[in-house]
Amino acid sequence: MQNRTIQRVAVVGSGTMGGGIAAHFANAGIPVYLLDLSPQIVKASFDRLKKSKPPAFFTSSTADLVTIGALDEHEAWLGEADWIVEAIVEQLEPKRELIGRIDRLRKPGSIVSTNTSGLPIAQLAANASADLKAHFLGTHFFNPPRHMKLLELIPTPDTDRGVVDFVRDFADRRLGKGVVIAKDTPNFIANRLASIGGATAVDFAVANGYTIEEVDAITGPLIGRPKTAVFRLQDLVGLDVAAAVANNLYDLIEGDESREILRSPHGGPVAMRQLERNRFGDKTGEGFYKKSGKNIQTLDLETLEYRDRIEPQIPSIAEGMKIASVPERLKFVLKQDDKAGALARHVVYNALAYAARRVPEISENVADVDRAVRWGFSYDLGPFELWDALGVRETAAEMEKYGVSVPDWVKKLDRFYSEANRYYTAPPAEAPLDERVLSVHVRSFDDIGRALDQLEKYEGMVLIIDDGVGQTFSSGQPLDGPDKNVWLTQQLYQRVRFSPKPIVAAIAGRVLNASAELAMASTRIVAAAETYIGLTEIMTGVIPALGGCKELIRRVVSPVMKRTPNADPVPLVQNVLQTIAMAKVSSSAEEARELGFLGEADRVVMNRDRVLAEAIAEVLELAENGYAPPAHEKNCFAAGRDAAAALKAGIYQMVQGAYVPEAGALISRKIAEVLCGGNLSSAQWVGEQYFLDREREAYEALTAEKS
Ligand code: NAI
Repeated sequence: MQNRTIQRVAVVGSGTMGGGIAAHFANAGIPVYLLDLSPQIVKASFDRLKKSKPPAFFTSSTADLVTIGALDEHEAWLGEADWIVEAIVEQLEPKRELIGRIDRLRKPGSIVSTNTSGLPIAQLAANASADLKAHFLGTHFFNPPRHMKLLELIPTPDTDRGVVDFVRDFADRRLGKGVVIAKDTPNFIANRLASIGGATAVDFAVANGYTIEEVDAITGPLIGRPKTAVFRLQDLVGLDVAAAVANNLYDLIEGDESREILRSPHGGPVAMRQLERNRFGDKTGEGFYKKSGKNIQTLDLETLEYRDRIEPQIPSIAEGMKIASVPERLKFVLKQDDKAGALARHVVYNALAYAARRVPEISENVADVDRAVRWGFSYDLGPFELWDALGVRETAAEMEKYGVSVPDWVKKLDRFYSEANRYYTAPPAEAPLDERVLSVHVRSFDDIGRALDQLEKYEGMVLIIDDGVGQTFSSGQPLDGPDKNVWLTQQLYQRVRFSPKPIVAAIAGRVLNASAELAMASTRIVAAAETYIGLTEIMTGVIPALGGCKELIRRVVSPVMKRTPNADPVPLVQNVLQTIAMAKVSSSAEEARELGFLGEADRVVMNRDRVLAEAIAEVLELAENGYAPPAHEKNCFAAGRDAAAALKAGIYQMVQGAYVPEAGALISRKIAEVLCGGNLSSAQWVGEQYFLDREREAYEALTAEKS
């Protein structure tokens, strides 16, 4: 099992999920066969996939790793794959038949997985060979597979342990997913809890005369859940899909004490009427909300007609939103004697207790339940984490007072996350921070200076630059303001660049402007695959002045001019100009590489949770190999004023083509001048400070004009 590798994958079923899964294996650099019933279907799916929004592929060339074909014509491809993913219609018989066919064609030892939403995994392979059964499991990706973190793995009693371990590790490291192991029970973990939770909220809302706006305002960020809350989410998922899932689930969970809520006495009739009128949600343009152009109307839950939005008039909602900590906010809401408090109590108490009543039925480990909910539905906290934060005993007592039944095993606990809880096993320890490496979460320019002052005591440093908590720095506020001195900040960045110890930038999410420039100043970048990097200063009327122009010249233009001194620099500088003047932000780290923000030595890590550990390892490796800072040399190619003139002519066309707004033309011309090194009569090699001086001049001239 140690030597298993995945050189090639086959995905059968090229719809929403099959297509997205195929694209994501390609994102991981693996060649994929994508198969469907006919050449027409698979071609249409693939064309859609390439245009999907948000993009399924990291870059447009990633799609070249996918080869499409019809199953009947190319069934032999299944024999080449190390992993075959089944993602066809959600029906038992077609899936079983396909798995039989795969069994006949696959090579022994290859992994076979099914992407069902809720069909029993073991039954799907009941008639298969022993070798297939040993290599068979459920891989429940969430939609869209590239962007949703959660992957539920569902082994059967026949699945080889080594196969489960391999898939878990592969999905974590190579696909970047958050993996949880679920039991082979209906709808697995996340969708089981969400189906019952959604029905519980809708039923209570209809029975108690809430408006849709009230429900979504109360059940979103106020209680630590995403803005889609209850009704927006239903529209997104599709009422038809939600109803099919609920019906299917109802039949499968006879022993579940909460299943009647799926036939919700109050919510049910509303859903039924909506379905009869084809009001399925976003896909039909109307559901609980109706979009007509920019205007969004809301369904009146009594008349079932659309009406204009009515703002909720519940003061505790705005009050609560002022509280930053989720548990504190929730404690506040839960004790309100108003509509917000009543709905929050009903939704939260039932959700926590239902999750507890499903353990160990759906999972042996409360931590996996929490992760499934956080990663699958973007809740701030899973049910058990939340319960811990609210206080297990007090909350359980409140629930019982409210009439919600709490299982006995919970009543003996003080905390869910403790060794005393038999349904909690600590996750494998994360890579510890290494005391030889200084790790700093950058939130301000001051953080950088302070860290540099301490660097002497360490082997090197990691600058964590991401859009996590306190994202003002990474979202790249421009340098404006009397306290921000461009010269000093440039020098600070050059201290990073020429630091005697290696400095690795660990980046993820949105990394714009000043933070993108900081990343480029570091010795090396380790980026999460989902990193969106760009220099967008033009949007606020200035230009990158912390080495952004300099770095793109050094990274994109200079290497080519060094290799081929007779090359025409204009098209190269033109590329950089477009990146800055059009404020391009990469849609992935790989695209950032194409734009020149990442260089060849910079690394992309699929799983964001692993970026820091990889960056620390990178620092240590650089240090062990005797790191020396770059030499101060004439390493930047300045193309000179003739090139600038050619670029300015091009700007006229960019404005004509509406790629750059008229107002941006003036700044674009300034950027062109800076990128060519100002008013040089001929092309020449210059040092980095030379470009920094041009950036600063232009920046100061532009800010002077603004004020
Ligand atoms: P879909 O309807 O978009 O795509 C299914 C594809 O399978 C179609 O292109 C169809 O032509 C093809 N197909 C049907 N029978 C076939 C056969 N016998 N051989 C080859 N191809 C065949 O469906 P979707 O949404 O991609 O779902 C696929 C699976 O993933 C289902 O089991 C679904 O329950 C599950 N799933 C869906 C999620 C979603 O959000 N759509 C989320 C997670 C799982």
